[in-house]
Amino acid sequence: MLSNELILQVKDIKKTFGPVIALKGVSFEVRRGEIRGLIGENGSGKSTVTSIVAGMQKADSGEMIYQGAPWHPATMIDAQHKGVSMILQEMNTIPGVTVAENLFAGREDEFSRYGFVNMKKMKTEGRKLLDKFGIKGIDAGENISRYGFEDRKLIEIARSVSDDTQLLVVDETTTALSHEGRQLLYKLVNRMAEEGKAVIFISHDLDEIMHVCNVITVLRDGEIIGSLSKEEFDPVRIRYMMVGREIGDAYYREDFIPSHGDETLLDMRGVSVGEIHDFSLQVRAGEIVGIGGLSGCGMHDVGRAAFGIVKADAGEVEVQGKKITDCGSAIEAGVAYISKNRDEEALILTGSIRDNIVLPILKFIEKPLGFINPADEKKTADAQVEGLRIKCNSPAQLVSTLSGGNKQKVSFAKWMATDSKLLIMDCPTRGVDVGVKQAMYQLIETLKEKGKAILIISEELAELIGMCDRIVIMKDFAVSKTFDRSSDLTETAIIDYMI
Ligand SMILES: Nc1ncnc2c1ncn2[C@@H]1O[C@H](COP(=O)(O)OP(=O)(O)OP(=O)(O)O)[C@@H](O)[C@H]1O
Ligand SMILES: [Mg+2]
Repeated sequence: MLSNELILQVKDIKKTFGPVIALKGVSFEVRRGEIRGLIGENGSGKSTVTSIVAGMQKADSGEMIYQGAPWHPATMIDAQHKGVSMILQEMNTIPGVTVAENLFAGREDEFSRYGFVNMKKMKTEGRKLLDKFGIKGIDAGENISRYGFEDRKLIEIARSVSDDTQLLVVDETTTALSHEGRQLLYKLVNRMAEEGKAVIFISHDLDEIMHVCNVITVLRDGEIIGSLSKEEFDPVRIRYMMVGREIGDAYYREDFIPSHGDETLLDMRGVSVGEIHDFSLQVRAGEIVGIGGLSGCGMHDVGRAAFGIVKADAGEVEVQGKKITDCGSAIEAGVAYISKNRDEEALILTGSIRDNIVLPILKFIEKPLGFINPADEKKTADAQVEGLRIKCNSPAQLVSTLSGGNKQKVSFAKWMATDSKLLIMDCPTRGVDVGVKQAMYQLIETLKEKGKAILIISEELAELIGMCDRIVIMKDFAVSKTFDRSSDLTETAIIDYMI
């Protein structure tokens, strides 16, 4: 229910980080009943402005009004108590403790007496909370480390949103979720709008943002470019507002004929790992193979097994005839792996952009006696920063200070510099803007032309249909269907084999 009542006003917010001007005076309003989309290139300031609204950091100057009164949240918890919650772009669960402790982090008092936390009660309440959100397959009593990336994002949603939440910020959350998780989030967001609450929804997926939101605000370089109401939504116009130039629809491969070389580069035979049994997959030189499915179908485990992160209980994983037993043997055999879980598995956050990019090739640019030529290092890093337009002051900047999409570019770039024969990409375009997506797809096509074997594991069916020679759909830890590249292939045809 859209009303005219303002819930939030953001006026002339400015924010700098050293020499970086993240926000140059941002103003916008959110009304009750509104789902306001926020879109803009990587590093345009979306997470910065919304994290100021949600109390995570302070603006240098400017003003905010929430429910008619000046708004100065002291911390994120303070903001949450007063009805403003944010689901962060990056992973934000506490490792090593139970799901229940994560759900009630900061609220332990409600479960304590005489200094002891009543874990039993906490677990019971945790189960109720997960049920209320319709979250299935997660046990509040289990250690959170047992759960994968998607599940942990759902736990964050349940933790962040309560009946008292008036304004919810959803920062690039859907790319972390699979099909079912997304439906759950859309339902939640719609219900909040119907109840006269409000949502700020950040996404790089134009179709999604046009579908979910009533109004879209575009940011570029820390400035608001403009807002469009539902009747004015038009992808070409939005893209133009985002980047200041025309970007076509042609992201993907234009041919529709599956093709590949002769040599089998990845050979998985009768592999059993986790709940997957007797799984076989071959990827040949010059071939792009995609794996798709719902969360928990096992597709991410296939990539992890192929890179030796998890060891197969049975069967063989070979790359050009060499057995893969761990990550070391995989890198040795020329395998690259872009993890979906970029903060925990793909990047050294406390390292610089240059360190991260150069890491996988150190062994190749190393001179005798372990000496590394800084000029080689610099050249490699500079080329990648430029090629993928990584937004930074210099390649010496710490990865932890980059925007989400720019981190993803580093995670991608670090393998592009290697001469890997097989590239395993788990959700490679997660959180990157449309312009960069286009650049990444072009790179993937070039890799194919060079005869590399590519395995893309993705939640984005459009991406699989657009890029792959062959698509393997998994359901309940097994292959349910294989599709060859074709211009007739549709998302609906594929979804039937996922559910
Ligand atoms: N702690 C920090 N230190 C230095 N620079 C920062 C810090 N936090 C953000 N920035 C910079 O501020 C700018 C805006 O970043 P922000 O994270 O808001 O972008 P974004 O629009 O959310 O991008 P994305 O789509 O990639 O998530 C970027 O140039 C980023 O590098
Ligand atoms: Mg962001």
